[in-house]
Amino acid sequence: MASGTSRDVLWRGLAVLGRAIREQPRIFAVAATSSVLFGLVVVASAYVVGTVVGDVVVPAIAEGSVQVGVLALAAAALLGLSVLRVVGIVGRRLGAGYMQYRLQAGYRRQVTRRYLDLPLSWHHRNATGTLLSNANSDVEAAWHPIAPLPFAVGTLVMLVGAVASLFVTDWALALVGLGVFPALFALNVAYSRRMAPRQARAQRLRAEVSGIAHESFDGALVVKTMGREAQETERFAERARDLRDALISVGRLRGVFDPMLETLPSLGTLAVLVVGTVRLRQGAVSVAELVSVAFLFTVLAFPVRAIGWVLAELPRSVAGWDRVRRVLDATGEMPYGSTTLDPSDPRPATLTFRDVHFAYEPAEAHLPGTEVLGEVGFTVPAGRTVALVGPTGSGKSTITSLAARLVDPRSGAVEIDGVDVRGLTADSLARTTALVAQVPFVFDDTVRANITLDRPGLGDGEVWAALRLAGADGFVAALPDGLDTRVGERGTSLSGGQRQRLTLARALVGRPRLLVLDDATSAVDPRVEAAILAGLRASEPGTSTASILVVAYRRATIALADEVVYLEQGRVVARGTHADLLATVPAYADLVTAYEQAEVEQAQQRGYEDVAPPLATGLELEVDQ
Ligand SMILES: Nc1ncnc2c1ncn2[C@@H]1O[C@H](COP(=O)(O)OP(=O)(O)OP(=O)(O)O)[C@@H](O)[C@H]1O
Ligand SMILES: [Mg+2]
Repeated sequence: MASGTSRDVLWRGLAVLGRAIREQPRIFAVAATSSVLFGLVVVASAYVVGTVVGDVVVPAIAEGSVQVGVLALAAAALLGLSVLRVVGIVGRRLGAGYMQYRLQAGYRRQVTRRYLDLPLSWHHRNATGTLLSNANSDVEAAWHPIAPLPFAVGTLVMLVGAVASLFVTDWALALVGLGVFPALFALNVAYSRRMAPRQARAQRLRAEVSGIAHESFDGALVVKTMGREAQETERFAERARDLRDALISVGRLRGVFDPMLETLPSLGTLAVLVVGTVRLRQGAVSVAELVSVAFLFTVLAFPVRAIGWVLAELPRSVAGWDRVRRVLDATGEMPYGSTTLDPSDPRPATLTFRDVHFAYEPAEAHLPGTEVLGEVGFTVPAGRTVALVGPTGSGKSTITSLAARLVDPRSGAVEIDGVDVRGLTADSLARTTALVAQVPFVFDDTVRANITLDRPGLGDGEVWAALRLAGADGFVAALPDGLDTRVGERGTSLSGGQRQRLTLARALVGRPRLLVLDDATSAVDPRVEAAILAGLRASEPGTSTASILVVAYRRATIALADEVVYLEQGRVVARGTHADLLATVPAYADLVTAYEQAEVEQAQQRGYEDVAPPLATGLELEVDQ
């Protein structure tokens, strides 16, 4: 990322700074003007100090008399300059701070917004740890040089002013300046050039360390139960050691260069005194001028370092910016269409898959993606329930992702009420279809917030109705604060089945016209599952409000469907009622029986006494709510 020569990095870094200035021109103008003011004040005060020493102090020592008028004038001038200096410093610091933090906040927002706009396929290819560091440390790194930037700009002006005033004073002293300032500058450049690769490496390792940490925390359960704590700690420690070494090498370099940068201006002052004394003897300069110049060298040493700071930060900034850009420029966005479906239409929607082919994007762009679905065609008629059944990996979840338009088909079409979903607006899509995913996601918030997600017009009445449909009203009512109970990060304070029912209620509360359930009730007691599904089919007697596409494993659930679509390896192998398929498709019958066997064993382990023995059709379970 931070590849290329250091000259390349310098130019690209300057381009990043240019972008910052273009984005915050006014604040930058305030900060830079304040800094220039500061620089000019510093140069001016050197001359006032020189004048005081040359015209007041020296005569006072020589003659024993003080020129009160000159002294008062000098004091007033110094006071005035001090006030201007304070104004300059405050303006610069405030401006730089505003500019840096505004840019950081703005880009953080843009990056996270972009994450949400990018399609699932992009997220599949990018690790969570990387996304976190893109939005955090990379954005920070990109705008880090903004803090010293106005100072550096002021310093440049100050240097030009200083050299000009040196020439006005004396050519010999000016030559000393021309020797020292460029040397200081060159030293700074050499410093940042050596710093570049070290900083880039440290930045990369930071991202890796945070990635590993994230994965270990996320997988804490696996790590603990498999007794892999030591290995996992070692994996982390290894990267942490690399980061430590990288940072130490940064520190070592700093240790070598910082003293040199401190010493060079002092040597400059020494040279000024040596050359200056000779010139004083020759009568070419006055005491006042010599003191001014020596003072100037002393006060310039510090600001010149601001240029070094900016240069030293550039490589890290370029590396950070490259990563931020990678997110902002990422393609593969799925544009929405402009067709809207009537939001007040209470009728269930019709979902149609027309000859859909689909492949996940390969990890590396040049490889062809293997086809996961081929020639998939089926319809969920309005108000009906269709069950997707198939062995693991046969493409059921992929079909639900297509139905909710998380991904688009490679060819063919997914239609809702005869409209290609790619033609629908984001809002229409969100209002019409609700997907409950295989892995439930719960936010660290209250039960109410998890269900409404701040969608407008959802009162507690609607929330309780949805909870009731999802079979979740009982346990929510028993929570200490009811709807106001916080559920912990990812719902850790809830059981798996409770989390599933909350996410189901979240989908139901928006009154979707098409409900897509990807194994959404697998952790729920089978009787409750069947009851929930039956309730969804006919929540109002005789009518149903939503069409349902459900990935199902349990016979009782499957048997509730009007039609079963049986998949194998991404192809629809058979369609029909559960009873038909049981009778005519041996593979289907085997699969359902195998599921059932597993279910019974599981149930016996968990102690659902009432599930065994195997259910004949499951239909007898149908609903005694
Ligand atoms: N993000 C992905 N990238 C690449 N391939 C994927 C991805 N997700 C799934 N696949 C592949 O697509 C195929 C279908 O996966 P899918 O998740 O749709 O199966 P499924 O029928 O839902 O399985 P299960 O019953 O285990 O949930 C599998 O071969 C799987 O390896
Ligand atoms: Mg699945």
